[in-house]
Amino acid sequence: MRNASNRRIYRAWAPIYNAVFGRAFRDARRRTIEALELRAGESLLIPGVGTGLDLPMIPRGVHVVGLDLSREMLAQTSRQSLGPQVCLIEADAQHLPFATASFDAVLLNLVLSVVPDAGIAFGEAWRTLRPGGRMVLFDKFRPEDQSLTAARRMIGRIAEALGTDPNRRLDDIIRGAAQLTVARDSPALLRGTYRLIRLDKA
Ligand SMILES: C[S@@+](CC[C@H](N)C(=O)[O-])C[C@H]1O[C@@H](n2cnc3c(N)ncnc32)[C@H](O)[C@@H]1O
Repeated sequence: MRNASNRRIYRAWAPIYNAVFGRAFRDARRRTIEALELRAGESLLIPGVGTGLDLPMIPRGVHVVGLDLSREMLAQTSRQSLGPQVCLIEADAQHLPFATASFDAVLLNLVLSVVPDAGIAFGEAWRTLRPGGRMVLFDKFRPEDQSLTAARRMIGRIAEALGTDPNRRLDDIIRGAAQLTVARDSPALLRGTYRLIRLDKA
């Protein structure tokens, strides 16, 4: 997965993304956002905000920064009535243009399986989260006890052509992050293929 190919793939997805994925992920998305326990006045970063499907579910009074590599995905987000509390930025989640400890909460929905280097993108998101902050991930990960079989590799190649890698392991991605507690790791969809993970920063 590279930024150049992701730009091309998500340019193609942008006009149909909500129709294809909106309803399928809606309930899981709602549970993911609830797990963040957001309060009015807090700041939330959403790297890879995509078409903004999360935004209508964010509680009122939360200040949101949504960031994405794809101009066309962001253009779909802009079609919503966003209000003054939402700011959109075209940028790479692997190089966040924010100071350390800028946000109370971070939401990573379906993006660590997409960015070229999930470890770097996670590290950047973790850096911008303040001590005492919460991060929630909703994504598909290869189970820690499953090896990368030939069949999995083949499925992975097909999925990558569509803009996602199902073979990344959470442990590999979050390894080495300081002050991290896994507060929750639960199946979210398709018998645990998709997981909801909450990470708390001490
Ligand atoms: C599968 S979509 C998920 C969108 C949204 N988070 C959701 O839950 O519907 C992945 C998103 O990641 C974005 N993306 C891919 N590479 C990125 C990068 N390096 N930095 C920021 N966003 C990226 C894509 O443009 C796309 O909008």
